[in-house]
Amino acid sequence: MTLLVVLLAGCAETSPDWTPLDGPWDPEHPEAVRILAAPEADAPIDSAMAAAGERWYRNRGCLACHRMDGTPVVGPSLLGITERRDYDWYRAMVMNPDSMLVHDDDARELLQVWRVPMPDQGVRELEARALWEYQRREDRARRP
Ligand code: HEC
Repeated sequence: MTLLVVLLAGCAETSPDWTPLDGPWDPEHPEAVRILAAPEADAPIDSAMAAAGERWYRNRGCLACHRMDGTPVVGPSLLGITERRDYDWYRAMVMNPDSMLVHDDDARELLQVWRVPMPDQGVRELEARALWEYQRREDRARRP
């Protein structure tokens, strides 16, 4: 019984609790394809998506290793990340850290500094996109 509860809680945490489509999330839907594409730098923030990203940032454990106040913990603070990296790189790092830490020069350089390999959290594409929207919102709020 306890195991079942733990399993159910685990599922609840990893299944998206937000979808920008009217129906269930379908990555093939033309609107979904548009949403998943990298946003233009000056595109307005989608606040519902950013709020979902903020929840996922906590639920996925990102916050435990990446504070958002500029303080380094296990990994670098991700404040300002949207100014340091582009979305394609961010998405690759968040969805496939194992492969990035082996094959990508910038990620390998980070590993040399931080020494801890970032774990694969099983982040899906819609989550990666929403996490990025959250980071855009935070970075934009700091602009003078
Ligand atoms: C157990 C700690 C840990 C967790 C959990 C974690 N990361 Fe990381 N992350 C790291 C470390 C350490 C690095 C630096 C690269 C390396 O050494 O692996 C890193 C690097 C990164 C980078 C590149 C930073 C830069 O300055 O370019 C991004 C982006 C990132 N993580 C996003 C995330 C997101 C989003 C999540 C949640 C889905 C997450 N991380 C979860 C430890 C973690």
